[in-house]
Amino acid sequence: MIIGSISENLVNEKRVAVTPEIVKKYKSLGLDVYICKNYASHLGIKDEDYENEGAKTFTNDEVLSKSNIILQLNIPAEDHLSKLDKNQILIGVLNTHLNEKKLKSLISRDVKCFSLELLPRITRAQSMDILSSQANLAGYKAVIDSFAYFQKAIPMMMTAAGTISAAKVLVVGAGVAGLQAIATAKRMGAIVFATDVRAASKEQVESLGGKFLTVEGAENLETESGYAKEASEDFKKKQEELLKETLKKIDIVICTALIPGKKAPVIIKKDMIDVMQNGSVIYDLAAIQGGNSELTEVDQIVDVEGVKIMGESNILNKLPVSASNLYAKNSFNFISNLYDKEKNAFEINLEDEIIKTTMVK
Ligand code: NAI
Repeated sequence: MIIGSISENLVNEKRVAVTPEIVKKYKSLGLDVYICKNYASHLGIKDEDYENEGAKTFTNDEVLSKSNIILQLNIPAEDHLSKLDKNQILIGVLNTHLNEKKLKSLISRDVKCFSLELLPRITRAQSMDILSSQANLAGYKAVIDSFAYFQKAIPMMMTAAGTISAAKVLVVGAGVAGLQAIATAKRMGAIVFATDVRAASKEQVESLGGKFLTVEGAENLETESGYAKEASEDFKKKQEELLKETLKKIDIVICTALIPGKKAPVIIKKDMIDVMQNGSVIYDLAAIQGGNSELTEVDQIVDVEGVKIMGESNILNKLPVSASNLYAKNSFNFISNLYDKEKNAFEINLEDEIIKTTMVK
């Protein structure tokens, strides 16, 4: 059985789904790995590095026609997808709502498709959880980038020339990315505030040394699966008042708030940005989902009277090696769960919650 992977569109995606280290693991499971030529040369990883671990290199078309599983980050382009046929399996972050047409066509040809962003948040799936592994890195990198952009020092410094006060950071949304942002900002000496709509997040924020901003009288907006629900108008109004007051003293805002399957909630409005100090930075990790700040523009730095608002379409492209390492491990764990070593076959057991939930129908 063969796991294959071809180049992504390098303009949008620098991560790779297979690393040399993971080739060794596939080989020890009894699987072969085929990749296209120059697969990860943009990351400084040579074909030779893959070949030394037992992978074989081919053209894109050869990889697509010979492999049982095609493992990617993003859904491939039409001309690649058209090469896939009955009984082949496509695995990636397929963004089912954005790629309905392409996926329907694949499924009608009996290509089995699994989309890893659909993984259930259950204990058994934790080692496969690409959303967590990538969000964790994104939260870290958003802090590093915004601090690099900020024109003042972050920690408090007492010097003979006087004292520099510590920067104040507000993290909006304390999920996986937000918690890592809090931890990173604290480590660098910032004073960190955070807010979320899930009651459980208060304790997590505080355990990292952050100060939790509670919206007065708010109900817990957590669903049974652990995600956030959309807030009521009353909640939004109270949250706005609380944040507007807080933002007057905040230097850097890291936005990470999301509601699964919906446009990101708009939390930082224009009038709230107006009260911020000149030189402050808003880093909007939700940019691609519409943004938590009203004035975010994807891949642009917007200047609102000295307040800089930034947000990238794919922040993981700024640490593609770490992001690839984790994605490769997550997807290896997913594929191991599909593979029946004794039968040397991929078993699509729809009684397995992980398989059932990720399979695109
Ligand atoms: P996410 O990326 O969907 O959302 C980020 C954060 O934004 C969430 O904490 C959410 O509550 C918050 N948010 C949404 N609307 C907001 C608003 N209007 N104002 C302020 N904050 C708002 O969430 P993520 O990071 O993927 O994780 C969400 C949940 O999943 C958490 O409960 C986490 O503990 C759980 N989880 C469970 C895992 C498991 O394997 N058991 C793995 C990873 C996460």
